[in-house]
Amino acid sequence: MNKILIVAAAMTALLWTGAARADDPTFPADNGPDSIDVSKYPKDQQENYKVFSEKCSRCHTLARPINTSVAAPEDWKATVEKMRRKPRSGISDDAQKQIADFLIYNAGQKKVAASTSAGQKSVANPSAAQTDAKAVSAGAGAKN
Ligand code: HEC
Repeated sequence: MNKILIVAAAMTALLWTGAARADDPTFPADNGPDSIDVSKYPKDQQENYKVFSEKCSRCHTLARPINTSVAAPEDWKATVEKMRRKPRSGISDDAQKQIADFLIYNAGQKKVAASTSAGQKSVANPSAAQTDAKAVSAGAGAKN
């Protein structure tokens, strides 16, 4: 139930940002969530996240870097470098390092989350396994 509310709230927030930036050419990634829950991240990454959310939301929504397919550390370095070079990006060398550091760390966290939920999926269907087992034992019973 709570999840539905959170999704609804996130979508409302997205509609707002969407409306405010309707004149920008949009990327599919722009339609995803525009924040990351960093409450369980180490303190330094929480600081880096602040820099990221301030600097990387100036020209497009934060959803774009959050939901992009960019994932490998070297690709993140290149992307942040490309963004820093854009006219009036306002991204200093220090900020660039902090942001790249954060995005690379965050990509690692995404991987962990993906593998955990994949693991959950395989045990998420124990009833199916039980049904199979019952069918087998029922079959075995019938034979006897
Ligand atoms: C000065 C404006 C500006 C700033 C600041 C900016 N961007 Fe961008 N960004 C753009 C524009 C314009 C595009 C679309 C064209 C392009 O990819 O060059 C874009 C596209 C992107 C894309 C999609 C590119 C792709 O190939 O998928 C990502 C990811 C991205 N930005 C991440 C970031 C990150 C991370 C930051 C902060 C370090 C950032 N941007 C800051 C202007 C900006």
